[in-house]
Amino acid sequence: MSKTPVGIGIIGCGLMGREIASAILRYAHLLDTHAQPELRAVCDVNLDHTEWFRQNIASVGQVTDDYRDLLANSEVDAIYCAVPHHLHAVLYPDIIRAGKALLGEKPFGIDDAANRAILAAAAERPDVLVRVSSEFPYFPGAMRLAERVRSGQLGRLIEAEAGFWHSSDLDPSKPINWKRQVATNGEYGCMGDLGLHVVHLPLRLGMRLETVYAQLSNIIRQRPDAKGEMVACDTWDNAQLSVRARLGEDVFPVQFSTKRIAPGHGNTWFIRVTGTEGAVAFSTRNPKALHTMVYRPGAAQTWQREDLAYRSAYPAITGAIFEFGFSDALLQMVAAFVEEYAGHDPGFWRCVTPQEARASHVLFTGALASQQSGHAIVLDHEEGMLHA
Ligand SMILES: NC(=O)c1ccc[n+]([C@@H]2O[C@H](COP(=O)([O-])OP(=O)(O)OC[C@H]3O[C@@H](n4cnc5c(N)ncnc54)[C@H](O)[C@@H]3O)[C@@H](O)[C@H]2O)c1
Repeated sequence: MSKTPVGIGIIGCGLMGREIASAILRYAHLLDTHAQPELRAVCDVNLDHTEWFRQNIASVGQVTDDYRDLLANSEVDAIYCAVPHHLHAVLYPDIIRAGKALLGEKPFGIDDAANRAILAAAAERPDVLVRVSSEFPYFPGAMRLAERVRSGQLGRLIEAEAGFWHSSDLDPSKPINWKRQVATNGEYGCMGDLGLHVVHLPLRLGMRLETVYAQLSNIIRQRPDAKGEMVACDTWDNAQLSVRARLGEDVFPVQFSTKRIAPGHGNTWFIRVTGTEGAVAFSTRNPKALHTMVYRPGAAQTWQREDLAYRSAYPAITGAIFEFGFSDALLQMVAAFVEEYAGHDPGFWRCVTPQEARASHVLFTGALASQQSGHAIVLDHEEGMLHA
């Protein structure tokens, strides 16, 4: 069967640009796919950042420091864009209006207004595929958790918790970068950086987030810049959001946390859902392990641990006995995007939609209002308005 060629362009050749390029190179790792992605063009305002692409990827025919060159390139069908947050609302609408499919990075706009501007562009071009990057739900443990929640095996939902924790910011001598400054990272701080990863699966499972009470912390307020001079580090380091959620007839509390300073944790993404008949938990801290409990009235309450096989949305050449990791999850997400572009809708496992990104903005904007007022905030997803 011949596969559908998909010409890819990458705008922003930093940390994530390279990761996605590597995933594209590894596409043959997956079985039963219909698309054949090829990286054809890259763009970065700092051309030094394109050097790795030029050295390693022969298919890249266009290297430029002006993203509009990619928009004019007829060889480019779809664009992955990974630039600082203040640029999302500049570049994403231009990409969409140029008719290129977009896999945009979170938070999909630096703030509520920027997110609305991007969604308006997407609404103008319903013919253009627009998706948002978030890879952790493609871990086998996260997939199994989702399957268990969807099956109804947990009974009535009691509560859920999801978080994404880092700790390298505990070091006060860690130099500042754009991700620690409101002007480039946004008022959301750690929520903008980490939050979509945390709400992705709960939203996809159909949880509607109704109210939020937030506690946000700015723990390290100054950091050295490149010259060693101390400058303001004005973003929120940690966020704890107490949310009232609804799924079907169940109304229950959800605890979301995004932390830059969670001592001892490095890239820990986790989710736990408990119900009256069972519970399920997964964390990338222990990426092979799925923890489950099946509860029957009067019986023992016993958590079980299962070592998971390598099994995700798209089957791969990797044997089931081997371990699954971050770059595998990213490859699965890339597949969900390019396969959908090629006309094969991944259904439940499609990448984050603009509407889900919108729901995350309503939550984070509500969290900022809660922090300021000290009250819980009612989230109005229809109007995108918040009521104290
Ligand atoms: N999905 C994930 O797991 C994940 C992880 C980290 C970051 N991100 C997101 O990816 C995006 C980028 O983060 P990063 O860590 O790759 O940042 P980065 O700083 O490593 O890379 C950003 C790149 O964009 C380039 N750039 C800036 N302005 C540009 C412009 N106008 N045109 C072209 N290039 C431009 C910079 O020179 C830099 O090379 C952010 O939205 C961030 O939130 C996602």
